[in-house]
Amino acid sequence: MAELRYDGQTVVVTGSGGGLGRAYALFFASRGANLVVNDLGGSFKGEGGGSAAADKVVEEIRSAGGKAVANYDSVENGDAIIQTAIQNFGRIDVLINNAGILRDISFKNMKDQDWDLIMKVHVIGAYKCARAAWPHFRKQKYGRVINTASAAGLFGSFGQCNYSAAKLSQIGFTETLAKEGLKYNIICNVIAPIAASRMTATVMPPDVLDLLKPEWVVPLVAVLVHKSNSSETGSIFEVGGGHVAKLRWERAKGALLKADDSFTPGALLKKWDGVSDFSEPSYPTGPANFMELLEDAQKLPPNPPSEKIDYNGKVALV
Ligand code: NAI
Repeated sequence: MAELRYDGQTVVVTGSGGGLGRAYALFFASRGANLVVNDLGGSFKGEGGGSAAADKVVEEIRSAGGKAVANYDSVENGDAIIQTAIQNFGRIDVLINNAGILRDISFKNMKDQDWDLIMKVHVIGAYKCARAAWPHFRKQKYGRVINTASAAGLFGSFGQCNYSAAKLSQIGFTETLAKEGLKYNIICNVIAPIAASRMTATVMPPDVLDLLKPEWVVPLVAVLVHKSNSSETGSIFEVGGGHVAKLRWERAKGALLKADDSFTPGALLKKWDGVSDFSEPSYPTGPANFMELLEDAQKLPPNPPSEKIDYNGKVALV
């Protein structure tokens, strides 16, 4: 099989001065793409800044014969980052929203600043960069977007409610962009990676980090943003340690309430087993069809009369 190449395409990778972003940038440059290496160069908590991180990666790419320019803006200034691509290479084909920081702290002790900074970088940053790239993608009827979620967003993680909220937002964001972009050949996917980086070095021992090379996340991203992918869009992937797997939603069988039961909590409690019965699941790509559900409810046999409970002399429906 011929290797996947990106010749003549422009790839913007946010936060590519280190970690996963650097691995993406080096790869795409080695496969013929023009790179915008964006990084504002702060600490993993989002403090400080500088040009050294992005410059170093640009230098690595150039000395290997590749094409790259640096951009030092924060992702909140998405316009300036995309403008760097247009000014230097005349186009943008691929946007990888990767920049990220952590402000870990228990919810009890969280300050507005911890919450706001995480939202600025992860939520507003991804939005601003995608918003700035979108008109170019639509005009040229071609675009590829990767947004970055996290296991913390999918499953929750102690001390990371700000980060979890921001990271899960990337899933809804991507699913909608995928729907709006499809007709213009704009393909959007979201990954929940795990890899050794300065971020994970704060929480994982070195022997575990050795098994989580950032380079092992690259093949998935490479496949998803390649021009040959015209159908895998709006999808969620877990990737890390050499493992790649798609995730999807699962809906339980559910319970149907009937109007003749006055939709009481008691009626719901009687059917609670069905609410969480995953023995015959469905895998929805959209909301439940409420018209169909209502028709099904009409066909149910009549309910027994609702139970009544006496609260201090008052009769109440449960
Ligand atoms: P990293 O800390 O090595 O790299 C993140 C880069 O983003 C840094 O170079 C940083 O300077 C840059 N950055 C931060 N704020 C920025 C801003 N406002 N504008 C421009 N650049 C900015 O971290 P890592 O691990 O490579 O993370 C990459 C992405 O993957 C992040 O979105 C992170 O949340 C996500 N992620 C990583 C996991 C992992 O296991 N490494 C796990 C789950 C998600």
